[in-house]
Amino acid sequence: MRIAVHGASGFTGSLVVTELVRRGFTPVLVGRDETRLRAVAARAAIPDPQIRVARLDDIDALAAALADTDAVINTAGPFTRWGEPVVRAA
Ligand SMILES: NC(=O)c1ccc[n+]([C@@H]2O[C@H](COP(=O)([O-])OP(=O)(O)OC[C@H]3O[C@@H](n4cnc5c(N)ncnc54)[C@H](OP(=O)(O)O)[C@@H]3O)[C@@H](O)[C@H]2O)c1
Repeated sequence: MRIAVHGASGFTGSLVVTELVRRGFTPVLVGRDETRLRAVAARAAIPDPQIRVARLDDIDALAAALADTDAVINTAGPFTRWGEPVVRAA
């Protein structure tokens, strides 16, 4: 199962990434800042991380980043403001 974590670079997102790795998943890290996403992947010791950069106002890029995933966990908030684009893209 391929699980995307949008907002993986944040506090909550990095905890989710770490827990998914602990459970044997290789999460797809999605967000706007590649450097920060790579840092989270390194901290979680993901050997071949899947990093996808997409901004929230670029719905096509966001949809492409999520296209082959089975589930999406969105941790980029506030959710009333940033939640809808992720839901729509998914
Ligand atoms: N931490 C808690 O204990 C807690 C408790 C209850 C609720 N919450 C809620 O949960 C959400 C996440 O909390 P957090 O503590 O994990 O926050 P955080 O560490 O500040 O992380 C926020 C994440 O959202 C991303 N983000 C924010 N604005 C964005 C935008 N315009 N476009 C794309 N990405 C954006 C950030 O990306 P960058 O890294 O690129 O900036 C980062 O990945 C917040 O809404 C917060 O209110 C948190």
